[in-house]
Amino acid sequence: TDIEKGTYPHFMLKEIDEQPFVIRKIIQEYKNENDEIKLDLDIRQAMKNCDRIYIIAAGTSYHAGLLGKQFIEKLANIPVEVHVASEFSYNMPLLSEKPLFLFISQSGETADSRSVLVQIKELGHPALTLTNVPGSTLSREANYTMHLHAGPEIAVASTKAYTAQMAVLAILAVDTARAKGLELEFDPMQELGIAANAMEALTDQKEELEELAREYLPTTRNCFFIGRSVDHYVGLEGSLKLKEISYIQAEGFAGGELKHGTIALIEDGTPVIALATQENVNYSIRGNVQEVEARGANSLIISMKGLDKEGDAFVIPYVHHLLTPLVSVIPLQLISYYAALHRDCDVDKPRNLAKSVTVE
Ligand code: G6P
Repeated sequence: TDIEKGTYPHFMLKEIDEQPFVIRKIIQEYKNENDEIKLDLDIRQAMKNCDRIYIIAAGTSYHAGLLGKQFIEKLANIPVEVHVASEFSYNMPLLSEKPLFLFISQSGETADSRSVLVQIKELGHPALTLTNVPGSTLSREANYTMHLHAGPEIAVASTKAYTAQMAVLAILAVDTARAKGLELEFDPMQELGIAANAMEALTDQKEELEELAREYLPTTRNCFFIGRSVDHYVGLEGSLKLKEISYIQAEGFAGGELKHGTIALIEDGTPVIALATQENVNYSIRGNVQEVEARGANSLIISMKGLDKEGDAFVIPYVHHLLTPLVSVIPLQLISYYAALHRDCDVDKPRNLAKSVTVE
């Protein structure tokens, strides 16, 4: 590959560090000279015309899709379903009358997603692809495409494509809301700029995060991630990162669902990483932390400034509540990176995984 690691020991670490710059690039690319959102008019029309959006993706891109649903439903008021491509492909749900399909794919080559695209095109439904590779199969074969502008992502574990996907989805949601004449208080470019600054600050806290990985995950076999609302979705991504590169069995759970089964798994010393960045669930997620601690868990709380409490292991800067995922995922990426490093794992090329999976 022509892309160099430069002074970085791994592409993954370089790509983690690039994230604030990718967000700033996206802000530039999706703005016109009047500081309005710059978007293909056909995409705007397709978003306005549909009665429901079906997000189709795999892996990390699926996790970005879960947050895309939040943006589109909360800002643009359009119902959204998020589906794992390989499931949708063989078990298609009932569709609404005017569906719009939104494919999210870093590579644009994932066979599971392409299989869905082929099927829904046969049914005559429109498709929009969000991808980091504009000339890719999913980009060429869809009716519309939006570019992630993340630059080549080399490490198998996706980092900057995930935050780029969320940023582009937030911009798309706001554009649709405005096209529909909805009043919004949320200025996406300004809030994304604030998030980018917060992300940059966190990439300077590597030593602290390496220390947390050393303290909480040295020899553990498993690790749980808990959160409520959008924090739950970020926890799913955090757990995927950790299992992909460190081979620690990691799972993300909704805080309130623990008591319905999962809490049985908590033993003395089980690491539980809890996210607490959402005001409306701050009280309840902290209750869940107490529940697991009472069963012996070793909990590590990542909270946000303004919602933090004494004893929280790590506090991210304050950002708009819709955009916390772009920021809170950074400590999770870095903790996973260092956990993998401490276990002598091949960070950039984990066993059994491929950067893009072109078979179903
Ligand atoms: C592979 C990669 C994952 C990625 C997934 C979806 O499994 O290992 O990191 O999230 O494919 O890839 P895509 O290119 O469609 O986003």
